[in-house]
Amino acid sequence: MGKVVSEDLKQSRRLDLGSEGVEGDISRRGFFKAALISAIAVSSALGLGGFFKFFYPTKTSAFGGKITAGKVADFPVAVQANGVFTTTLGATSRNRDGHFFLVHLPQGLIALYWKCVHLGCTVPFNPTEEFPSYLAPDGKGQVKYVGMFHCPCHGSTYVPTGQIVAGPAPRPLDHMQITLQGDTVIVDSGIILSRPKWDPSTTDPKTSQATPVS
Ligand code: FES
Repeated sequence: MGKVVSEDLKQSRRLDLGSEGVEGDISRRGFFKAALISAIAVSSALGLGGFFKFFYPTKTSAFGGKITAGKVADFPVAVQANGVFTTTLGATSRNRDGHFFLVHLPQGLIALYWKCVHLGCTVPFNPTEEFPSYLAPDGKGQVKYVGMFHCPCHGSTYVPTGQIVAGPAPRPLDHMQITLQGDTVIVDSGIILSRPKWDPSTTDPKTSQATPVS
C-alpha cells in the first residue's frame, strides 16, 4: 500500500512539473512576442519620424528658414541729405545664413536676396561705389547714390532699394519677408518676393518692399 501511495506522489509531482514547464514556455513565448512587437513599433515610429522630418523639415536658422537677423538698432539708417543718398551697412547686415543684405532705408527695413536676378551670381555691396543720378527712394526727385550693389558677373548695378539702374538684370533684386518681434528683426528666407520695380508706396506686409519700423 505504502508503495502505491509513493508511486502516486511521484506521478503527481511529474504532472505538476510538466504543467510548470508548459506555463513557463508560454510566458517566455509571450515575452519574446511582446519584445518583437515593441521593437517593430519603435523602429516604425523612428522611420515615420524620419519620413516626416524629410518632407517637413523643421525651420531653422539656415537658408530657407526664419532667420533672427538682429535688433533694429543694429542696422544703420541710410541717409538722404543735400541730394546724396548714402547707405552704410552694419556689421550684421550681410547675413550669410539667410543669403541676404539687411538694408535700413528711411521707409523701413528691406532684406535683399543677394542672388542676382540676371543669372544668379552673388551680388556684393560696395560702400564706396557711386551712381551719379537716379530717382530717390521716396520717388521725389533725383539723387546721387553712395553705396551700391554691383554684380561681378555681367555688371548689373542696383541701388540700395534693390532697384536695377544698369546692366542686363530684368528687375530689382528680390527681397524676403520681414516680421518684427518687438525690436527683433526676423527674416523669412523661405519667402522670396519679386517685384517689377521699387515702389515706396506699398504697405501690404505681403508685398511691401520695406517693412516700417516704429
Ligand atoms: S548674373 Fe548678375 S549681371 Fe549677370
